[in-house]
Amino acid sequence: MTKIFVLNGVNLGTLGERRPEVYGSLTLDDIYSQLSEEFPDVDFEFRQTDFEGEMVGFIRNGGASDGIVINPGAWTHYSYALNDALESITVPKVEVHLSNVHAREEWRRRSVISPSVNAVVAGMGAFGYAAAVRYILQ
Ligand code: DQA
Repeated sequence: MTKIFVLNGVNLGTLGERRPEVYGSLTLDDIYSQLSEEFPDVDFEFRQTDFEGEMVGFIRNGGASDGIVINPGAWTHYSYALNDALESITVPKVEVHLSNVHAREEWRRRSVISPSVNAVVAGMGAFGYAAAVRYILQ
């Protein structure tokens, strides 16, 4: 069975309550349910953490899977540690942002993670996760 890690970083545990006009009204559990329904043949390892070191561990574990979908939250913009963890593994990796980070504050336009992933999805809301999974499956 195809195994895909879906990793969610800092503050994403509050999805649904946090700025729904920007991030949508779905919770992470809702997104997980949607993915499980749409991709019944994929075994998802779906995680969220507010601790950077824990996320590094998840990324390393994901190195043995078929691919990683990662929304690093605000770590996107400054975590060289996550970039280094991602660059050290060779499975397909997709960076996902619910919001269009390029249409927001200037500092959100820069991702220090992007050099170490195969693809980036931004601004598609929860659909971006499904798009990322499809990319990995192909
Ligand atoms: C985000 C965008 C980031 O800038 C922000 O810090 C987040 C969520 C997104 O999904 O749009 O926490 O990654």
